[in-house]
Amino acid sequence: LPPVRTTSPRMHFAPRNNWMNDPNGLVFHDGLYHLYFQYNPQGVEHANLSWGHATSADLLRWTEHDPAILWDDTAQIYSGSVVVDHGNTSGFGTDQDPALVALYTAAAPGRQAQALAYSTDGGYVWTKYDGNPVLDRGTSDFRDPKVFRYDDGGDGYWVMVAVEAEDCQVLFHRSDDLTTWTFLSSYGPAGPVGGVWECPDMFPLAVDGDDDDVRWVLLISLNPGGIAGGSGTHYVVGDFDGTTFRASVPHPAPPRELLRDGGQSRDELERYGWIDFGPDCYAGVTFDGLARDERTLIAWMDNWEYAGRIPGGDSNEHRSAMTLPRRLSLTRDEVGAERLRQRPAVDLDPGESIDLAGVAGSVVLAEGVAGAARVGFTATFGDAQSVELHIESASDDGRVVIRQDRTSGRIELVRSGEKMPLGFHRSPSMRLDRPREVGWDLWIDDLNERVSSIELFAQNGERVLTALVPVTSPRTYTVVVIGGTLHGARADVAERGC
Ligand code: FRU
Repeated sequence: LPPVRTTSPRMHFAPRNNWMNDPNGLVFHDGLYHLYFQYNPQGVEHANLSWGHATSADLLRWTEHDPAILWDDTAQIYSGSVVVDHGNTSGFGTDQDPALVALYTAAAPGRQAQALAYSTDGGYVWTKYDGNPVLDRGTSDFRDPKVFRYDDGGDGYWVMVAVEAEDCQVLFHRSDDLTTWTFLSSYGPAGPVGGVWECPDMFPLAVDGDDDDVRWVLLISLNPGGIAGGSGTHYVVGDFDGTTFRASVPHPAPPRELLRDGGQSRDELERYGWIDFGPDCYAGVTFDGLARDERTLIAWMDNWEYAGRIPGGDSNEHRSAMTLPRRLSLTRDEVGAERLRQRPAVDLDPGESIDLAGVAGSVVLAEGVAGAARVGFTATFGDAQSVELHIESASDDGRVVIRQDRTSGRIELVRSGEKMPLGFHRSPSMRLDRPREVGWDLWIDDLNERVSSIELFAQNGERVLTALVPVTSPRTYTVVVIGGTLHGARADVAERGC
């Protein structure tokens, strides 16, 4: 295995240098996870879009390879997906050695169409198909094809979900050979429509692990108009019969005037499902090639509102990182609502367990911790009004306070510091179903010498909040209990040092 990254980030994938955005073509094949990504091989701006490439055996240690698919003067290579063509339906491989087939958006000014490339060496060298594009509607914002094999009980067929971004529509097409596509149906506009729809994904999950109760999850990224401002990703649970997706709880089609910039209140947005309540989790899609109960998502840990202005580090030229890989599952809550759950697909050995029972006021959990860390914290509110985790930097004035408050029933993340980068002024929050129960699993890592990232999984991973923070390593972690005490409170800090 390659060594764990010695530079930041330590637990998240980032390219050595240059611009990166969406994860593309996530596929597990022959024991390796392949991660392709929107990449500019020549600079730190969103330009010359190509597919970068990295692989990992454990989703923690990544090896970066040469870019896989390069832009040319006819088109940029926008987002898309990869499948392993096991039945050699495309004819690009053989039955023994199936080709990897990528469907991506060939993006030219005023025209976006779906194109194909294939690899016969396991995903490293790619050839653009000479019959491209394979699906062209003659429109300017048709993009982000995610392809999967649909099992209809017979031979099965390929299904592609892609968006007409400006129309807030997901389009479903089918194919027998990955090159000829026919229209099946569409979904939307519905639900959150304050921006363009991008990077859809759709997959089945068994509710609470029950194989007789399988539902389909449709992910749709939205920019702007997300729940935390700017870019965000929502999900809809429903049923897919091989042709049409039907939401369990249909969202009414919104009036046309809402189809642009905002227009939907926070209250309205909170009625929908969001994979993340923070501002920095976008364009998330899942791996092909894993079992249904291993469905794993990676998203871009950034927001289009300020992605181009994130301060770079001194030694790293990259601008952004991916989220942790997240295992997805589905559960049904007390009122029958189907909810997505996420938990990190990687782990750290737990730190020493700290007993916080009866604590009122503040307790330092760990001081001067350098590198990545995971903070676990469980408790039940006694008479306390709120509980906070303060994360402070030893080397600058950056500070984050994460607060769970019994009256508001919410967890809120507040960032402060002199050198707060643009866009870090908002305080994202999420509502809990059981506000007196504390169940936090918080992951922090350095993006570079100026910016770090926090991913907070709460309420069994049914609420997740991802945010870039101006708190650099080494850091001190302090719990503050306000207005009373907690019951059964325990915390631990696990470290992945420098
Ligand atoms: C989402 C997105 C996609 C597009 C890609 C271009 O972040 O806008 O819709 O394919 O980025 O880089």
